[in-house]
Order: sequence, then structure tokens, then C-alpha cells
Amino acid sequence: MQFQTTLFLASANPHKIEELEQILKSLGINLKTTRDFPEREDVEEDQLTLEGNALKKARFWNQETGLPSLADDTGLEVDALNGAPGVWSARYAGEGVTYRQNVEKLLKEMEGEANREAQFRTVIAFVDGELEKLFEGICKGEIIHEPRGSKGFGYDPIFAPKGFDKTFAELSPKEKNLISHRGLALQEFIKFLK
Ligand code: IMP
Repeated sequence: MQFQTTLFLASANPHKIEELEQILKSLGINLKTTRDFPEREDVEEDQLTLEGNALKKARFWNQETGLPSLADDTGLEVDALNGAPGVWSARYAGEGVTYRQNVEKLLKEMEGEANREAQFRTVIAFVDGELEKLFEGICKGEIIHEPRGSKGFGYDPIFAPKGFDKTFAELSPKEKNLISHRGLALQEFIKFLK
């Protein structure tokens, strides 16, 4: 099925844009992103839930651009840390930190911890005027002890999805998209579009 339509994706993260573009382009969906509106200031992700942040961003960009807008928020939820870093995943080691600093902090918090179970959870919000919808994708796996792999971003080098002996950072973007939290949430959105 081909849609021949344009959606706005509220993101300037090149990794994320590439992941989502790969899936949406094949359906004839053209994407505009935050990078196409450099003069507009992005929304602050200051809500206490992934759902709240995703909706806030999608509503803002729908108003700004007039385009049906998608926004996502993702968190890594670690069982032994009661769901942390969760909605704070980007700022786990502090404001303005690198992915590596977040990974190091998480490994430190997990030192000596036997229960390594974790999940990535993505919430995608779609807003088109009055129409507002939320879609969720979950990928379960575990936190390994040492970073492995150089692909992907964020916590990818220390997250091994269930059933794989590779981390997300050792999978190709295509392999990751098929099983990832973001890929699964997007599949839910595409089902809704169809
Ligand atoms: P955001 O919702 O995309 O801003 O994600 C928040 C944080 O979660 C990011 O800064 C990354 O550290 C982490 N994150 C999001 N998606 C992924 C992923 O697919 N792999 C690894 N880390 C991710």
C-alpha cells in the first residue's frame, strides 16, 4: 500500500530519523523533520511520562507546521532499578551528557546485580488537529556487563534483545528495526494508517 503523503516527525536525532525514514519511505510517506524548521525552537521534554512528552511534542509541531505530526519518546526500563532510567534515559548521568556517560552510569548502578532484565519502551504520539492517538512498542532484553558493538546509539552497546546473543549495537539497522521498540510502535501506527 502506498500513501503518497507528508508527515512531520518531531525529531532532529539523525539516528532516529534514519530508522523511521527507512520504514516510512517504503510506504510512500515523505517526512519533514525538526531539521526542516531550524528557526523554530524545539519543545522541552519536561513531562513525567513517555506518553506526556510524546503528546506534548506532537501537539506543538502539528500546530506549528499544520502537518499531521508524529513524535516519540523512548525510555530504557531496568527491572533491578525499578524502571529507571525510564523517562530520564537521555539525562541519566546529568544534563548535556554523552551517550557513553549514560552507559557508564548504568553499568555502575548495575554492578553486582544478578537480575539484568530490562526493556526499551517507545511511545509514539500522532496528532492531526483534533485527532490524537498513542502507539506503544516494547522490546525486552538484558543489560550486559561490557559495551559491545559500534552501530546504533544511546544504550545500544549494552542492551541484548531477548533471543539474540548480540547487542543492538551489533545488529544492522534493518535487523534492529524489525524487533526494536521504535520499530514495533511504528508498526502499530502503520496498522492504524491502513
Ligand atoms: P528519546 O526519546 O529518543 O529522546 O530517547 C531518550 C534516550 O533514550 C536517548 O537519549 C537514548 O539514550 C535512549 N534511547 C532511545 N532510543 C534508543 C535506542 O533505540 N537504543 C538505545 N538507546 C535509545
